[in-house]
Amino acid sequence: MSSLDDGLNPPYGGILVNLLVDSARAAEMKATAKDHASVTLDERPLCDLELLAEGAFSPLKGFLGKADYNRVLEEQRLVDGTLWPLPIVLPVKPGEGIAEGKTLALRDVYGNLLAFLHVEEIYAIDKDRESKLAYGSTDSRHPSVAWLNRQPGHYAAGRLEVLRTPPHHDFVELRRTPAELRKTFAELGWKKVVAFQTRNPLHRAHEELTKRAAQQIGGGLLIHPVVGVTKPGDVDHFTRVRCYRALVDNYYEPGSVVLSLLPLAMRMAGPREVLLHAIIRRNHGCTDFIVGRDHAGPGKDSSGKPFYDPYAAQEAMAEHKKEIGMGMVDFKQMVYLPDDDKYAPVDEVPKGVRTADISGTQVRDDYLAKGIALPEWFSRPAVAAILAEANPPKHRQGLTIWFTGLSGSGKSTVAHALVERLAEFGRDVSLLDGDEIRTHLSKGLGFSKEDRDANINRVGYVAGLVAQHGGTTLCSVISPYRATRDNARQSTKGNFVEVYCDTPIEVCEQRDVKGLYAKARAGEIKGFTGVDDPYEAPLNPEVVLDTSKLSVQECADRMIDKLIELGYISHHGHV
Ligand code: ADX
Repeated sequence: MSSLDDGLNPPYGGILVNLLVDSARAAEMKATAKDHASVTLDERPLCDLELLAEGAFSPLKGFLGKADYNRVLEEQRLVDGTLWPLPIVLPVKPGEGIAEGKTLALRDVYGNLLAFLHVEEIYAIDKDRESKLAYGSTDSRHPSVAWLNRQPGHYAAGRLEVLRTPPHHDFVELRRTPAELRKTFAELGWKKVVAFQTRNPLHRAHEELTKRAAQQIGGGLLIHPVVGVTKPGDVDHFTRVRCYRALVDNYYEPGSVVLSLLPLAMRMAGPREVLLHAIIRRNHGCTDFIVGRDHAGPGKDSSGKPFYDPYAAQEAMAEHKKEIGMGMVDFKQMVYLPDDDKYAPVDEVPKGVRTADISGTQVRDDYLAKGIALPEWFSRPAVAAILAEANPPKHRQGLTIWFTGLSGSGKSTVAHALVERLAEFGRDVSLLDGDEIRTHLSKGLGFSKEDRDANINRVGYVAGLVAQHGGTTLCSVISPYRATRDNARQSTKGNFVEVYCDTPIEVCEQRDVKGLYAKARAGEIKGFTGVDDPYEAPLNPEVVLDTSKLSVQECADRMIDKLIELGYISHHGHV
């Protein structure tokens, strides 16, 4: 039972689901695991498994079966009528050992045995339908649409037995389960607790809104940051947790706040996700939930429009909070009033009073990326120092420059020129060239859609690794599919410059450097991009080059100008 015996109704906040088996059963599971097919969980189902096992997703007892899945998509409800906003599912590729009636061993990428799924159902899904219904869009710039497009097209469901939750070695003392947090609140004597969800570093605005929220409800505050999966490009959770600790230890009244980490895989699903966030916090024993501006927002779509209205999440929460059994503390955007040296929600600011704010994007691009210290009115100095240390200026961060376009459109020629020009600025570049990649990294892959995607995913993976350590990769690959390029954008964690070599096919064909167009036209090779295979042009590339109109040098000049404009290179070099 909830330690906060406050009369709020189950299913949330009632008895927690606990899927962890006892040690005898765990030993038995281990011994028989070899008889079952294994499924390796990617980050999202891995996080989901942990939250399912510990009851954060109560009343769910496992991944959704088909009937629940369909009703969740269409009505945000389980078959029994319980409000449930988003699919919690296990993607699988049916095959040998992965079938209804079989048992699956669920493992993490290191091979650790975590759980058994006794499969009762395997069902095919329609990815576009799920994307539209759950996320309101099929645009692969939406992180969840991109994720879904990477998955096999079936989900498995059935009875779930969890042997152990995924092992963590970082900040273990801050990772508290629903049961542990309820106990903590009871020990503190808190009858009311307001939860603050976040995937970002906390600045003065957040400090102000969390303190106001606690005061408003007359209770304690739970700072409950997500440390599972957040939006690609976000500040990593190690840095964030150091910031949270610095803030909680120095700037909050002792005993007024609890910091705990949540291994959730965010969906960036705005108005649907806010409900999931609230249910999770209800299960952790909280009574109220803070919803501000653009809660769980995925940013902008391919045409530059926000996926959701900034207050859509507040509306969704207002509609369902009673059913979830929580109060909402809603805030309009919190802004700074320089003349009074204080913060206030924008709707409480009297007319004519000056306001100031720095957006998350500005923090990254105008301050940290340029090595400029965050002002004290915006961030506590301890937080600003941690962020500055963890964020080298943009011209010293990893970078991926991705040339896409038809064969013969000039990708490699411009890329080679750019390698040398970038060296002038102190950027040492690795070149991943399509033809070369296919001779080693992707040897054996052909030109079917599947093989092309595998090839591009590998290039994106390598570029992502290089970027992680501050390196620069120039990728020169036809990469005909938009969704696959968007995947690469995601796996390279944000610093991604897509260059579309938009040279007319007639010119490419006339050049026919490798003689491939002639062969394709003669039918000697099949599936040649632009001839008898599709090319999906980028919708919103950072740079467009037409090498039939521009010389190689002009193209390289344009690239350099753009990279300076974006802050990826500096006139002062790489220092
Ligand atoms: S989120 O994806 O987890 O929602 P973030 O960590 O930025 O992103 O926000 C956490 C919560 O704080 C959300 O409820 C969000 O609406 C709110 N929030 C963040 N910044 C502000 C602000 N300046 N004013 C009002 N609310 C804000």
